[in-house]
Amino acid sequence: MNLFNLRRPAPSLDDLLLDAKTPMLRDELSSQSLMPTVARPPQVFVRGQGSWLWDSEDRAYLDFTQGGAANSLGHSPSVLVRALADQAQALINPGSGLHNRSQLNLVDRLCHSTGSDQAYLLNSGAEACEAAIKLARKWGQLHRSGAYRIITASNACHGRSLSTLAASGDNRFEPQLPGFCHVPFNDLPALHAAVDAHTVAIMLEPIQSDAGVIPATEHYLKGVERLCRELGILLILDEVQTGMGRCATLLAEQHYGVRADIVTLGKGLGGGVPLAALLARGKACCFELGELEGTHHGNALMAAAGVAVLDSVLGHGFLEHVRDTGQYLGEGLARLAHRYGQGELRGQGLLLGLGLSDDSADAVVKAALYEGLILNAPQPDCLRFTPALTVSKSNIDEMLLRLARAFSRVHTTQLQCRKGIAV
Ligand SMILES: Cc1ncc(COP(=O)(O)O)c(C=O)c1O
Repeated sequence: MNLFNLRRPAPSLDDLLLDAKTPMLRDELSSQSLMPTVARPPQVFVRGQGSWLWDSEDRAYLDFTQGGAANSLGHSPSVLVRALADQAQALINPGSGLHNRSQLNLVDRLCHSTGSDQAYLLNSGAEACEAAIKLARKWGQLHRSGAYRIITASNACHGRSLSTLAASGDNRFEPQLPGFCHVPFNDLPALHAAVDAHTVAIMLEPIQSDAGVIPATEHYLKGVERLCRELGILLILDEVQTGMGRCATLLAEQHYGVRADIVTLGKGLGGGVPLAALLARGKACCFELGELEGTHHGNALMAAAGVAVLDSVLGHGFLEHVRDTGQYLGEGLARLAHRYGQGELRGQGLLLGLGLSDDSADAVVKAALYEGLILNAPQPDCLRFTPALTVSKSNIDEMLLRLARAFSRVHTTQLQCRKGIAV
């Protein structure tokens, strides 16, 4: 008899992390019909208010993810509920071929507040980034003898459509759309060396969020802007995640003191409903009739949400609140990181990433959920915090308590794992 076969396999972190008391929440609805493309916990969420979410068993969770930073004003804020209700009652969708007031209102305000000359409304960040790519290629046809190549950064995330996957350097769905070149982020000489006669634009996120919340340095982003001006190519900033007050300025480019030719917005613009925007400045405004269309582009209901969000973000004291609470959150996280031997804190405003000392981010996210805290992990060694921009200091204090418990739980579990103890 081989005694090795009788030995119990060492328990995994996952086995140990969620003990028998873990609520295995079930709803009357099953998720079997749902394509399994996104890993989700079993809970079904039924209600939200501000920084809180409730599941179908009435358990409350503090939400420091907020729909991947989309719910800029938190869950079901009254200003958004009212705007949606009023617009739904008046007119939901006249069709993208007809003007509606909310669309005109929103593009006007977006242009005015961001110093842009033209704006266009779409449904998702990927769509806005794809539209930016099209706009740059159109500009290349007009002004750069057909140049079409766009330089992007390694580990970028510009969306999951085929063109934005190619822009992000993700080649899982070959053949990849040609016309992109990737260089290391925050490396100005590499960027310079990559420019050739076919290059039409450089496209970057001011803070690479999915890569683990990696901010561009000011030296880098200013250098990129200068390079674009000297070479006569376009600068595209993907502000889908960093825009709309997330970094304590309306656009992150303001924080850096740069000005792009094309900017994309998404996520926080709709406050939780699908809305994105393409902004263009100066001679980058070169789309003509028929070159950018979509059934729900400029949809009145979504545009009304965008107006409500933009008005709130531009309201008195709003961005100061983001700066103040961002600093408070950062200080609290730095204290916790020190206490639990974790790594560095990165980010700006209320887009923060905490580097961990090992690849335990998924385990911490699971333990946090058990503690009634919703977080996410863009990388195996990074936790991301994108709370509502309206988050309060007491929400942050409560979050830090729950996160401390999650760290302790993971720490204990790691020790058990090392000793091979099963619960
Ligand atoms: C910087 C950035 N750009 C674009 C996208 C794509 O946005 P969406 O998921 O709305 O298509 C994302 C989404 O995570 C993002 O973080």
